[in-house]
Amino acid sequence: MNKWYQKAMIYQIYPKSFKDSNNDGIGDINGITESLDYVQQLGTNTLWLNPIFVSPQIDNGYDVSNYFAIDPLLGTMDDFQKLVEAIHKRKMHLVLDLPINDTSDQHPWFQDAIKNKDSIFRDYYIWSENQGNRPNNWGSFFGGSVWEPDPNGGSQYYCHIFDKKMPDLNWKNPEVRKSMADIAKFWIDKGVDGFRLDAFIHIAKANFGQNILNQKEKFPVDSSFYANLPEVKLYLKDFIKLVKGYKDDVFFLGEASSADAYQAAEYTRPERFGCDMVVTSDNYGEMYPMTDSKIPMFFQPRQLSIKRLKETFSVWEAVLEKISLPALTWGNHDISRVLDRLHIDSQDNDLPKALAVCMYLQRGIPIIYYGEEIGMRNLKYKKLRDFHDQRALDLIDFMQSKGYSDEEILTLLNQQDEMTARGPFQWSADKFVGFSNHHPWNWATHNDAAADEAVKNDGSLFAFYRAVLKIKTQPLFSEGQYLLLKTDAKIYAFERELNGKKAFVIVNFDHKTVKYRVPTVKVVHTLLSNKASSLVDNVVTMEQSGSIVIEEK
Ligand code: NOJ
Ligand code: CA
Repeated sequence: MNKWYQKAMIYQIYPKSFKDSNNDGIGDINGITESLDYVQQLGTNTLWLNPIFVSPQIDNGYDVSNYFAIDPLLGTMDDFQKLVEAIHKRKMHLVLDLPINDTSDQHPWFQDAIKNKDSIFRDYYIWSENQGNRPNNWGSFFGGSVWEPDPNGGSQYYCHIFDKKMPDLNWKNPEVRKSMADIAKFWIDKGVDGFRLDAFIHIAKANFGQNILNQKEKFPVDSSFYANLPEVKLYLKDFIKLVKGYKDDVFFLGEASSADAYQAAEYTRPERFGCDMVVTSDNYGEMYPMTDSKIPMFFQPRQLSIKRLKETFSVWEAVLEKISLPALTWGNHDISRVLDRLHIDSQDNDLPKALAVCMYLQRGIPIIYYGEEIGMRNLKYKKLRDFHDQRALDLIDFMQSKGYSDEEILTLLNQQDEMTARGPFQWSADKFVGFSNHHPWNWATHNDAAADEAVKNDGSLFAFYRAVLKIKTQPLFSEGQYLLLKTDAKIYAFERELNGKKAFVIVNFDHKTVKYRVPTVKVVHTLLSNKASSLVDNVVTMEQSGSIVIEEK
């Protein structure tokens, strides 16, 4: 454990929604700088900011048109430098989100590429042969085809696996890898400690001469044609070598949403210049009851499955054991907030605590999505017209065409849509939740969680998160081995072990009180417990949603 990031505890901030310092309704860099006391009080030591570069904001900053400047919506380079200084003064670290799979169509590389077919930037993007039609039926993650005609005419199409205003970069071209490394170096010079590599698993594509077999849809989505292909590792290696050659303790957190544990291992083998850690959406321990098979997978309601949680983490922990640290997270900006996703009762303060204990004390690096620590829930929009993101608009069209009522669609979107998870951070009970004096850019009904009260109250979810993260600073919990313990189906229990010393984390997800004998003959003591969970003669008694952390003396 000699790299700073092995002890990282990450707090993810969606900059537009955290704190608005100049009251224009949009969160900004200075707002983050003003809030560092809070973040540090929680016990996190690393910030990951969603993209802050200049962007037309088609995809909330993931569509970058200038990688070398801060988007004026969020502040200036001067503000940014002050933020970095303040973070480092607190011995904290900063990770920036770096979209590497694509740029905005407004980026000068793309503009030059379409203006001049001989431009050196033409080959920065992915073009179909001069055949005058789409090379295949591949569907974009944001709907429609991945192929869009060259806006300046001719018979070629460019590839975009996300929005059509986000052309994919051609990572086959070594100049692209070098240019991306130059961008990373620029930000390293500004003091950045790491990068989240957005969508990196998509930087290689299969041979275009293949269609996806699917009779039902015109442009089906099948990410096996454009995710996790073998060349991803080669391209990544070139890029990471260039950057780590410049500064070797730069942290690369790869976004590998569809990678399984074995792919994650391949992406993070330390000897191969890959990522230091990857974050996936495979590890929430959820299952999809498929209550309505007509609804697309992304919007399917989910349920916490303890069986799945056990299976997922026993596999991820075992596969990555000698390789890298798993990412421990209950959510991010791309998915509905965890308490809504798992249908947790709004009065229940114990189950959220149980979720925190069992996730963050496993072996790995916690990533806490802003607001989770105070129990923030999804925004609840009042009408369908309040939804603006493409995925939601497509769902509305689709469900209306199938005869669902507006009410049904609204309920589903408020439950599952990602924009509802990007609400203003709830600082207080003030008119605009202490986020701003101005009407916030993303605003709707919200729950009454408020940070100012939470930090004062010893029984709050915030106080519990702080206690969990404090425990996490012990080497036993950051470095120790993880072992899933044999228990009843609804108890999640695991052991951590380091140099012969053990700790046990036990959570009761059952609806009844349970007893559990801690598997040790040594004397143990309680480090943290919730819901009157008690320990007598090495036997734990726990009520529903109770949790306990025990350590050998
Ligand atoms: C992954 C990001 O997390 C998501 O928010 C974004 O829409 C896609 N990349 C495409 O840029
Ligand atoms: Ca602002």
